Amino acid sequence: MKLNCLILAAAMVLPAGLALADGDAVAGAKVFKKCMACHTATEPTNKVGPSLMGIVGRPVATVEGYKYSAAMVAFGAGKIWDEAELTAYLPDPRGLVKGTKMAFPGLKAPEDIANVIAYLKDPTAK
Ligand code: HEC
Repeated sequence: MKLNCLILAAAMVLPAGLALADGDAVAGAKVFKKCMACHTATEPTNKVGPSLMGIVGRPVATVEGYKYSAAMVAFGAGKIWDEAELTAYLPDPRGLVKGTKMAFPGLKAPEDIANVIAYLKDPTAK
């Protein structure tokens, strides 16, 4: 009984994406090619989108000198781009953050998402 409670508690606390979070950074580098028109993860440079250097674990909408949409700023209040939030965002950016100016339809394959998150955590992986 006690064990059941623990499992239930864990299932409620752990975000659904976590089971997939063990991505492959090298495979993720390939996926990131889809993002590179607008983002770099290896330099603190903003392109069409903000620099994604160190994005995993960073508070939402806080890159210095980048002008976020009002939608992203409002969405971001108090939130951090952890694996769960990225896993929720990347399949459908405009679905999660209504009014975002990130014009990207989303990554449909869960493994692409897990892999690109692994890459974002370790963008020097080869
Ligand atoms: C067509 C350009 C474009 C593409 C392609 C694109 N993005 Fe973005 N991204 C943006 C823009 C613009 C923003 C800022 C959104 C806003 O302010 O509403 C953004 C914001 C983000 C943010 C939030 C950053 C922060 O500092 O809070 C993340 C995370 C992100 N993008 C990840 C990705 C990933 C991963 C990919 C590839 C799978 C990707 N983006 C593809 C343009 C793009």
